[in-house]
Amino acid sequence: MKEKYTQVIAHRGSKGTRPENTLASFQEAINAGADGIETDVHLSADRQLIIMHDEKVNRTTDGTGLILEKTLAEIKELDAGYKFGSEYRGTKVPTLEEVVDLLIENDFHGVFNLELKTNKIAYIGIEELVTEQLSNRRLPFKIIYSSFNSESIKKMHELNPDSEYAKLFKTGIKRVMLLKKGHLIQGIHPDIKWVKRHKLLLPHILIRPWTVNTEADMAFCFKHKLAGLITDYPKRAIELRKDIQG
Ligand code: G3P
Ligand code: MG
Repeated sequence: MKEKYTQVIAHRGSKGTRPENTLASFQEAINAGADGIETDVHLSADRQLIIMHDEKVNRTTDGTGLILEKTLAEIKELDAGYKFGSEYRGTKVPTLEEVVDLLIENDFHGVFNLELKTNKIAYIGIEELVTEQLSNRRLPFKIIYSSFNSESIKKMHELNPDSEYAKLFKTGIKRVMLLKKGHLIQGIHPDIKWVKRHKLLLPHILIRPWTVNTEADMAFCFKHKLAGLITDYPKRAIELRKDIQG
Protein backbone atom coordinates (compact mmCIF):
# COMPACT_ATOMS: atom_id res chain seq x y z
CA MET A 1 0.00 0.00 0.00
CA LYS A 2 1.26 3.47 -0.88
CA GLU A 3 2.26 5.77 1.97
CA LYS A 4 0.76 9.24 2.03
CA TYR A 5 4.14 10.94 1.93
CA THR A 6 7.15 10.44 -0.28
CA GLN A 7 10.15 10.02 2.02
CA VAL A 8 12.87 12.62 1.59
CA ILE A 9 16.26 10.91 1.81
CA ALA A 10 19.34 13.09 2.13
CA HIS A 11 22.01 12.11 -0.41
CA ARG A 12 25.44 11.82 1.23
CA GLY A 13 23.79 13.91 3.96
CA SER A 14 22.77 17.39 2.89
CA LYS A 15 25.32 17.29 0.06
CA GLY A 16 24.12 20.52 -1.56
CA THR A 17 24.73 22.62 1.55
CA ARG A 18 27.51 20.83 3.49
CA PRO A 19 30.66 18.83 2.59
CA GLU A 20 29.30 15.47 1.41
CA ASN A 21 29.46 12.36 3.57
CA THR A 22 30.72 14.21 6.66
CA LEU A 23 29.16 14.41 10.11
CA ALA A 24 28.34 18.08 9.35
CA SER A 25 26.37 16.95 6.32
CA PHE A 26 24.46 14.25 8.23
CA GLN A 27 23.71 16.64 11.11
CA GLU A 28 22.35 19.19 8.64
CA ALA A 29 20.08 16.55 7.09
CA ILE A 30 18.75 15.62 10.54
CA ASN A 31 18.20 19.31 11.37
CA ALA A 32 16.31 19.74 8.08
CA GLY A 33 13.95 16.95 9.17
CA ALA A 34 15.00 14.45 6.49
CA ASP A 35 13.13 11.13 6.70
CA GLY A 36 16.21 9.29 5.58
CA ILE A 37 19.95 9.57 5.18
CA GLU A 38 21.88 7.94 2.35
CA THR A 39 25.60 7.28 2.56
CA ASP A 40 28.35 5.18 0.98
CA VAL A 41 30.74 2.76 2.68
CA HIS A 42 34.22 1.47 1.70
CA LEU A 43 36.98 -0.53 3.38
CA SER A 44 40.41 0.82 4.42
CA ALA A 45 43.74 -1.06 4.32
CA ASP A 46 43.27 -1.97 8.01
CA ARG A 47 39.70 -3.13 7.35
CA GLN A 48 37.86 -0.18 8.86
CA LEU A 49 34.50 0.91 7.41
CA ILE A 50 35.01 4.33 5.84
CA ILE A 51 32.29 6.77 4.75
CA MET A 52 33.06 8.38 1.39
CA HIS A 53 31.58 8.35 -2.09
CA ASP A 54 34.59 7.81 -4.35
CA GLU A 55 37.05 4.93 -4.16
CA LYS A 56 39.83 7.55 -4.11
CA VAL A 57 40.15 10.38 -1.62
CA ASN A 58 41.26 12.90 -4.30
CA ARG A 59 38.02 14.73 -5.13
CA THR A 60 36.74 15.50 -1.65
CA THR A 61 39.91 15.74 0.45
CA ASP A 62 43.45 17.13 0.38
CA GLY A 63 44.91 13.65 -0.14
CA THR A 64 45.43 11.30 -3.06
CA GLY A 65 45.02 7.57 -3.58
CA LEU A 66 42.68 4.72 -2.82
CA ILE A 67 40.86 4.33 0.51
CA LEU A 68 41.78 0.63 0.27
CA GLU A 69 45.49 1.49 0.39
CA LYS A 70 45.27 3.76 3.44
CA THR A 71 44.94 3.01 7.13
CA LEU A 72 42.25 4.65 9.24
CA ALA A 73 44.95 6.79 10.90
CA GLU A 74 46.06 8.05 7.47
CA ILE A 75 42.46 8.76 6.43
CA LYS A 76 41.90 10.70 9.67
CA GLU A 77 44.77 13.03 8.67
CA LEU A 78 42.77 14.20 5.64
CA ASP A 79 40.66 17.34 5.38
CA ALA A 80 37.23 16.54 3.94
CA GLY A 81 35.78 20.02 4.32
CA TYR A 82 37.93 22.81 2.88
CA LYS A 83 37.16 22.05 -0.78
CA PHE A 84 33.50 22.73 -0.06
CA GLY A 85 34.20 25.93 1.85
CA SER A 86 36.99 27.39 4.00
CA GLU A 87 34.67 27.44 7.03
CA TYR A 88 34.66 23.63 6.94
CA ARG A 89 38.46 23.32 7.08
CA GLY A 90 39.45 20.55 9.48
CA THR A 91 36.34 18.40 8.85
CA LYS A 92 37.28 14.72 9.10
CA VAL A 93 36.28 11.70 7.03
CA PRO A 94 33.93 9.69 9.27
CA THR A 95 33.78 5.97 9.91
CA LEU A 96 30.49 4.07 9.73
CA GLU A 97 30.60 3.77 13.51
CA GLU A 98 30.83 7.55 13.94
CA VAL A 99 27.86 8.12 11.64
CA VAL A 100 25.79 5.58 13.54
CA ASP A 101 26.83 7.25 16.83
CA LEU A 102 25.62 10.61 15.46
CA LEU A 103 22.26 9.16 14.41
CA ILE A 104 21.80 7.55 17.82
CA GLU A 105 22.79 10.76 19.66
CA ASN A 106 20.15 12.60 17.63
CA ASP A 107 17.59 9.85 18.31
CA PHE A 108 17.11 9.57 14.55
CA HIS A 109 14.08 7.37 13.86
CA GLY A 110 14.14 7.58 10.08
CA VAL A 111 15.72 5.44 7.40
CA PHE A 112 19.44 4.86 7.15
CA ASN A 113 20.20 3.94 3.54
CA LEU A 114 23.64 2.39 3.50
CA GLU A 115 25.06 1.96 0.01
CA LEU A 116 27.72 -0.74 -0.22
CA LYS A 117 30.20 0.74 -2.71
CA THR A 118 31.25 -2.61 -4.07
CA ASN A 119 30.62 -1.97 -7.74
CA LYS A 120 34.18 -0.87 -8.62
CA ILE A 121 36.20 -2.61 -5.87
CA ALA A 122 34.75 -5.82 -4.41
CA TYR A 123 36.05 -5.12 -0.83
CA ILE A 124 36.10 -8.79 0.16
CA GLY A 125 34.34 -9.29 3.51
CA ILE A 126 32.75 -5.83 3.71
CA GLU A 127 29.28 -7.38 4.06
CA GLU A 128 30.40 -9.37 7.13
CA LEU A 129 32.07 -6.32 8.69
CA VAL A 130 29.00 -4.13 8.19
CA THR A 131 26.78 -6.86 9.63
CA GLU A 132 29.05 -7.31 12.65
CA GLN A 133 29.08 -3.60 13.35
CA LEU A 134 25.38 -2.90 12.92
CA SER A 135 23.89 -6.06 14.38
CA ASN A 136 25.72 -5.54 17.68
CA ARG A 137 23.96 -2.26 18.41
CA ARG A 138 20.47 -1.17 19.37
CA LEU A 139 19.49 1.14 16.54
CA PRO A 140 16.53 3.53 16.67
CA PHE A 141 16.39 3.73 12.86
CA LYS A 142 15.52 1.35 10.04
CA ILE A 143 18.26 0.27 7.64
CA ILE A 144 17.89 -0.10 3.88
CA TYR A 145 20.95 -1.64 2.27
CA SER A 146 21.53 -0.74 -1.36
CA SER A 147 24.17 -1.42 -3.98
CA PHE A 148 24.82 -1.30 -7.71
CA ASN A 149 26.39 -4.76 -7.16
CA SER A 150 23.80 -7.59 -7.08
CA GLU A 151 26.31 -10.03 -5.55
CA SER A 152 26.79 -7.69 -2.61
CA ILE A 153 23.03 -7.53 -2.09
CA LYS A 154 22.86 -11.34 -2.19
CA LYS A 155 25.66 -11.70 0.40
CA MET A 156 24.12 -9.08 2.66
CA HIS A 157 20.72 -10.75 2.36
CA GLU A 158 22.19 -14.13 3.40
CA LEU A 159 23.65 -12.49 6.49
CA ASN A 160 20.61 -10.30 7.28
CA PRO A 161 17.49 -11.85 5.72
CA ASP A 162 15.17 -9.60 7.72
CA SER A 163 16.68 -6.31 6.57
CA GLU A 164 15.34 -4.26 3.69
CA TYR A 165 17.16 -4.05 0.36
CA ALA A 166 17.12 -1.90 -2.76
CA LYS A 167 18.94 -2.30 -6.07
CA LEU A 168 20.64 0.75 -7.50
CA PHE A 169 20.75 1.11 -11.28
CA LYS A 170 21.22 3.63 -14.05
CA THR A 171 19.78 1.67 -16.99
CA GLY A 172 18.23 -1.77 -17.54
CA ILE A 173 15.55 -3.28 -15.36
CA LYS A 174 15.51 -7.00 -16.27
CA ARG A 175 18.22 -8.22 -13.88
CA VAL A 176 16.88 -5.91 -11.21
CA MET A 177 13.48 -7.56 -11.45
CA LEU A 178 15.09 -11.00 -11.03
CA LEU A 179 16.32 -9.85 -7.62
CA LYS A 180 12.78 -8.76 -6.83
CA LYS A 181 11.37 -12.07 -8.04
CA GLY A 182 13.85 -13.91 -5.80
CA HIS A 183 12.53 -11.84 -2.85
CA LEU A 184 15.95 -10.31 -2.30
CA ILE A 185 14.86 -6.69 -2.69
CA GLN A 186 11.81 -4.68 -1.73
CA GLY A 187 12.78 -1.52 -3.56
CA ILE A 188 14.65 -0.01 -6.48
CA HIS A 189 16.81 3.12 -6.50
CA PRO A 190 17.03 4.20 -10.16
CA ASP A 191 18.39 7.32 -11.81
CA ILE A 192 15.54 9.89 -11.91
CA LYS A 193 16.22 10.45 -15.64
CA TRP A 194 15.51 6.78 -16.28
CA VAL A 195 12.28 6.85 -14.28
CA LYS A 196 10.99 9.89 -16.19
CA ARG A 197 12.09 8.68 -19.63
CA HIS A 198 10.52 5.24 -19.25
CA LYS A 199 7.63 6.29 -17.03
CA LEU A 200 8.93 3.61 -14.70
CA LEU A 201 6.17 3.63 -12.12
CA LEU A 202 5.88 -0.03 -11.23
CA PRO A 203 3.33 -1.10 -8.69
CA HIS A 204 4.39 -3.55 -5.94
CA ILE A 205 7.91 -2.18 -5.68
CA LEU A 206 9.18 0.77 -3.67
CA ILE A 207 10.80 3.36 -5.94
CA ARG A 208 13.27 5.93 -4.59
CA PRO A 209 15.08 7.70 -7.43
CA TRP A 210 18.33 9.70 -7.25
CA THR A 211 19.54 12.36 -7.53
CA VAL A 212 16.38 14.47 -7.35
CA ASN A 213 17.58 18.07 -7.13
CA THR A 214 15.36 20.24 -9.35
CA GLU A 215 11.94 21.42 -8.28
CA ALA A 216 10.45 19.74 -11.37
CA ASP A 217 11.98 16.34 -10.49
CA MET A 218 10.94 16.67 -6.85
CA ALA A 219 7.39 17.57 -7.92
CA PHE A 220 7.33 14.54 -10.26
CA CYS A 221 8.16 12.20 -7.35
CA PHE A 222 5.62 13.83 -5.02
CA LYS A 223 2.82 13.90 -7.60
CA HIS A 224 3.33 10.22 -8.41
CA LYS A 225 3.58 9.42 -4.67
CA LEU A 226 6.82 7.49 -5.07
CA ALA A 227 8.06 5.77 -1.91
CA GLY A 228 10.99 8.15 -1.64
CA LEU A 229 13.41 10.45 -3.36
CA ILE A 230 17.12 10.85 -2.77
CA THR A 231 18.26 14.48 -2.88
CA ASP A 232 21.22 16.76 -2.17
CA TYR A 233 18.71 19.36 -0.87
CA PRO A 234 16.50 17.71 1.79
CA LYS A 235 15.30 21.03 3.26
CA ARG A 236 14.10 22.28 -0.12
CA ALA A 237 12.38 18.95 -0.86
CA ILE A 238 10.54 18.93 2.47
CA GLU A 239 9.24 22.45 1.83
CA LEU A 240 7.99 21.51 -1.63
CA ARG A 241 6.40 18.33 -0.27
CA LYS A 242 4.24 20.42 2.07
CA ASP A 243 2.84 22.28 -0.97
CA ILE A 244 2.12 19.12 -2.97
CA GLN A 245 1.34 16.37 -0.47
CA GLY A 246 0.12 18.51 2.41
O1 G3P B 1 22.07 5.78 -3.43
C1 G3P B 1 21.76 6.75 -4.38
C2 G3P B 1 23.00 7.31 -5.01
O2 G3P B 1 23.90 7.64 -4.00
C3 G3P B 1 23.66 6.38 -5.96
O3 G3P B 1 24.68 6.96 -6.66
O4 G3P B 1 26.99 7.49 -7.14
O5 G3P B 1 25.68 9.02 -5.66
O6 G3P B 1 26.38 6.80 -4.81
P1 G3P B 1 25.98 7.59 -6.03
MG1 MG C 1 25.38 6.57 -2.86
